[in-house]
Amino acid sequence: MHQKQLVGEAAARLVENKMVVGLGSGSTVFYTLKKLGSLVSEGLHIQGVATSDKTAELAREFKIPLVNLGAVEHIDIAIDGADEMDPYFNLIKGGGGALLREKMIAKAAKRMVIIADSSKNVEKLGGFLLPVEIIPFGWEMTARHIQRLGGSSKLRLRSDNKPYVTDNKNYILDCNFNFITNPAQLEVSLNMIPGVVENGLFVDVPTDVITILNENVKMFQNLKN
Ligand code: A5P
Repeated sequence: MHQKQLVGEAAARLVENKMVVGLGSGSTVFYTLKKLGSLVSEGLHIQGVATSDKTAELAREFKIPLVNLGAVEHIDIAIDGADEMDPYFNLIKGGGGALLREKMIAKAAKRMVIIADSSKNVEKLGGFLLPVEIIPFGWEMTARHIQRLGGSSKLRLRSDNKPYVTDNKNYILDCNFNFITNPAQLEVSLNMIPGVVENGLFVDVPTDVITILNENVKMFQNLKN
């Protein structure tokens, strides 16, 4: 079985009856959604909070009941993918452009479970370009401010060369900081720039990780929890 399917389904098995579940985005979470759909058809009662329009669409297809983030007090468990993960459980997310809602849902979650195939494990973050969601107004100026922090950036484009637009009607800059030596500091510095809505660094989010080690599914708990 594909690594993404193995970790995606393993995470779905952590979901218990009556839970409010944060539903992440991406090709690994696809397998979680599919598995949750089949558990729901067997009688599991859950409410899902989707991190993207695409995930909401898939959840409807798999008949997972949905609720809005604002309508719940908290999320019991959020399950999401990652683009990179370092040994300290710091993450880069947002390859699929859903980082803002993903971070809002992670913040509301009592437990966050990251599902990551072995290709996502890195010693230092930054090989994957860091996605930063920005408002379209004056975006070139925002890009210049980011450059002053030491990163080059590229506006994410669609296949027709028009700017990629997020579910929140914003743009994404994919930023190259080479290897990120201080993710906590960079996360804060980026968010201080007017025009930046959110960035894809997830630092100090209490996270459990399901990944593949020596061809086996393994769960690691963040000791900072
Ligand atoms: C979506 O914006 C991202 O944060 C995804 O969670 C991340 O890109 C992982 O995606 P895959 O599971 O498709 O690798």
